[in-house]
Amino acid sequence: MITAQELRNKWFAFFESKGHTIIPSASLVPENDASVLYTMAGMHPLVPYLLGQEHPKGKRLANSQKCIRTGDIEEVGDDTHLTFFEMLGNWSLGDYFKDDQIKWSFEFLTGKEWLNIPLERLAVSVFAGDNDAPRDEESATIWKSLGVPEERIAYLPKEDNWWIAGTSGPCGPDTEMFYWIDDGTPAPVNFQETKDDKRWVEIWNDVFMQYEKKEDGTLVSLSQKNVDTGMGLDRVLTVLNGQSSVYDTELFKPLFDVIALSQEVMSNDEVRQARIIVDHVRAAVFITSDGVEPSNKERGYILRRLLRRAMVYAKLLNLQPHWLEGLVGKVVAIYAESYPELVKDSNRIFETIEAEQNKFTKTLEKGLKEFEKVFKDQNKITGTDAFNLYQTFGFPWELTKELAEAAGQQVNEEEFKSEFKKHQDLSRTASAGEFKGGLASNSEKVVRYHTATHLMHKALREVLGDEVWQKGSNITEERTRFDFTYAHKMTDGQKKEVEDLVNDWIKRDGLVEKEMMPLEKARELGAIGLFGEKYDDVVSVYTISDPKTKEVISREFCGGPHVEHTGQIGTFKIVKEESISAGTRRIKAVIQD
Ligand code: ALA
Repeated sequence: MITAQELRNKWFAFFESKGHTIIPSASLVPENDASVLYTMAGMHPLVPYLLGQEHPKGKRLANSQKCIRTGDIEEVGDDTHLTFFEMLGNWSLGDYFKDDQIKWSFEFLTGKEWLNIPLERLAVSVFAGDNDAPRDEESATIWKSLGVPEERIAYLPKEDNWWIAGTSGPCGPDTEMFYWIDDGTPAPVNFQETKDDKRWVEIWNDVFMQYEKKEDGTLVSLSQKNVDTGMGLDRVLTVLNGQSSVYDTELFKPLFDVIALSQEVMSNDEVRQARIIVDHVRAAVFITSDGVEPSNKERGYILRRLLRRAMVYAKLLNLQPHWLEGLVGKVVAIYAESYPELVKDSNRIFETIEAEQNKFTKTLEKGLKEFEKVFKDQNKITGTDAFNLYQTFGFPWELTKELAEAAGQQVNEEEFKSEFKKHQDLSRTASAGEFKGGLASNSEKVVRYHTATHLMHKALREVLGDEVWQKGSNITEERTRFDFTYAHKMTDGQKKEVEDLVNDWIKRDGLVEKEMMPLEKARELGAIGLFGEKYDDVVSVYTISDPKTKEVISREFCGGPHVEHTGQIGTFKIVKEESISAGTRRIKAVIQD
């Protein structure tokens, strides 16, 4: 048996031996990134570097990244889908490319001191080629030179072998590696013909990111050829240990013990429900740890939905009191070594989740009342009613079905499904929209907003004092939104002062310059702001100075990009100032030409 920690350590040791620097997992909440709700791949926090910016840790990086994916939430509970997972990843930022990457993938998978997977259990896919990029014979040839039989190489189209996060950004063809799950049947010889067999499990994806898809849909070659890879830790742990489901691993077993449920003695439906509970609570613990609170909007809504869904299934399975507390504690314990922040944040995590539980218990009761009311009025529950209960009270299909059956009534499942599908199509479109604008939308307008935000940050500190600290920012083509610590409502006079200062600095046409420097030096120079690579010793700093007097106007940790002269920004105006929580204010501001 290999443990999760041993697997992480092997990954780090292997890539260190190939000259990589191990970087910490970024937060699940993308810092300063307006376009995605949650980090969903190891490449997210690295987008600016994949597009050409210099990374302070060099051109070879690797890590284990916390990820959240909610796109396939309805599939969670099968053998392979999870909401939260860790992705082991390695990157070449314009350094090595296909040859090294494929050879290293082969070495890590089959090497005796690494994963030691027998070659007979492996198959790979490569990109079949289309108008955008050629058939990837190059990757296939490298795999063959390593001993992978030709029949175990499938050529697949874009839907399978092309990776892009959302609709724009860095992208390219990929080669994926599959493992044949041992159920006593040897792996089939021909992969192309059997690739849809569920026993072939994808375990690693090597993406060759040499293109950028622009927002208008055009594909351009990047100035550098990158490698971006991802290996799902839970999946690999499962297959290496000869298990058949990600829920069988040491990362989940103790969670089933807490709720006193054994997957062996439950019905298929119950197994799915119990898996959803443990998956959702695990995800909620990590999300809460990264500072999100349940709410009705965006990120907070996803957290709320995960927790409430878990609570509904807990009701259905009749879990004993304190099940949620028990699970939260166990998730923290399982990950205490790899993610010590969970232990540090545990009080806050418990409190936040408990508060949501208290709130939802009331909603759940209201939902039950609504069910009874509808049932009494019509003497039946239609599929549409079931969907409304799902939409409004978070009642899943099973709960309504179960309650109706207890009252001697069948609910029309087709009708429920058709309503559900309508809604799902809508929300898929909406979540695809979350990526619109690109992961790193660096349009000219956005770049101007970036620089305006630095000036505003500095002006706020001048006008309101040093208690002002950035808590987050969110920039679109239309506005900048800036959250900061400050205990009081700003007066109109203060807002005007901030606007005047920013506009004065714009008029002085401040010079914007980027410099890489040791963190210590940046601190000494008084640089302010959030910086993604918190533990880095070399950071990127943007300084804005008066071109005549050389006086430093603002100095901030930032990846950029920025305008070259503040004169390019336009006129700055605050449109809203409000409180978003105790001690935190939010400003929305615009720039006008
Ligand atoms: N970014 C690639 C993925 O998530 C590696 O599959």
